[in-house]
Amino acid sequence: MRAIRISRTGGPEVLETVEIEPLRPGPGEILVRNQAIGLNFIDTYHRTGLYPVKLPSGLGMEGAGEVVEVGEGVTRFQAGDLAAYASGPIGAYAEFHVVKAERAVKPPAGLTAQVAAAALLKGMTAEFLLRRCFPVQPGQTILVHAAAGGVGSILVQWAKALGAVVIGTVGSADKAARAHELGADHTILYRDQDVSVEVRRITDGVGVPIVYDSVGAATFEASLKSLARRGMLVSYGNASGPAPAILPARLSQLGSVFLTRPTLFDYVATTEDLDASASALFDVIAKGQVRIDIGQTFPLAEARAAHEAMEGRETVGASLLIP
Ligand SMILES: NC(=O)c1ccc[n+]([C@@H]2O[C@H](COP(=O)([O-])OP(=O)(O)OC[C@H]3O[C@@H](n4cnc5c(N)ncnc54)[C@H](OP(=O)(O)O)[C@@H]3O)[C@@H](O)[C@H]2O)c1
Repeated sequence: MRAIRISRTGGPEVLETVEIEPLRPGPGEILVRNQAIGLNFIDTYHRTGLYPVKLPSGLGMEGAGEVVEVGEGVTRFQAGDLAAYASGPIGAYAEFHVVKAERAVKPPAGLTAQVAAAALLKGMTAEFLLRRCFPVQPGQTILVHAAAGGVGSILVQWAKALGAVVIGTVGSADKAARAHELGADHTILYRDQDVSVEVRRITDGVGVPIVYDSVGAATFEASLKSLARRGMLVSYGNASGPAPAILPARLSQLGSVFLTRPTLFDYVATTEDLDASASALFDVIAKGQVRIDIGQTFPLAEARAAHEAMEGRETVGASLLIP
């Protein structure tokens, strides 16, 4: 079968297409024939070594497709089911992938493999950020960075469904238009405008109770300065590089604010949490509150171009690799 591998860390050029032996599921595992593979920014952190992986390695955390074989003891799936997975093991960039049955979910009837692969990782991230990390209340004004991106597009729509007022930052005027279409009430072009000044202007000087920051280095300071007294900065990604170190005393100077640096994998660590998160996501999709915006698809063999586009800030919504 064809798969994308890396034998060293680096830029998109380290992605290689290779032929590897077909996989078989072990006890408790399922073999999935990927129909769509979700592209996520974390894949670039694995590729560059920002998040270390053991080399040589496959790449990719997320996919959806038909279960073609189940391992011993599996009762959660049977051959022919559609399965979607988003929490590893790394290696989804391939025609087939083996995952633990208890780490995969069954998308509801009617949801395609493409939508499932575009939705699961980013959508469960939005779910834990909005409902568990900091439960957003109706009427609260929140700041969402990279609002036209993969996670950002879902965060904006879901936050609106929860009754929040959403300020979204975006890298271009086209992306601002897209964020508004998704429901953002205000957009800030953070490459040109001063984010915290704009946030203070929009909130009559008060600031926001919550900032969802996936951009990291480039926005961290502005995020802190945009917080209202006792607000919460949720730093959950590093698209521009890791956020810098901070002294705890700084948090008191900024108004007794809070800082957390969560990862999805701690919020869906048990099968119970995984199922609850996925089911909340499938529910908002079914109700039409969240539309999964597949901005672009790439053939699996063009994973390198996909990485270049994502890191080059050329993508909108979710991106898929198609085997
Ligand atoms: N903690 C978790 O559990 C978790 C889970 C999922 C995702 N994440 C994080 O969430 C973020 C979004 O993930 P995603 O897969 O949906 O990606 P994405 O939002 O589709 O792409 C990243 C976006 O970040 C913005 N960006 C700002 N500065 C950038 C820079 N210097 N280089 C590249 N992009 C830059 C770009 O939008 P503009 O052009 O509008 O600036 C870009 O489109 C990532 O940081 C990811 O690591 C975290």
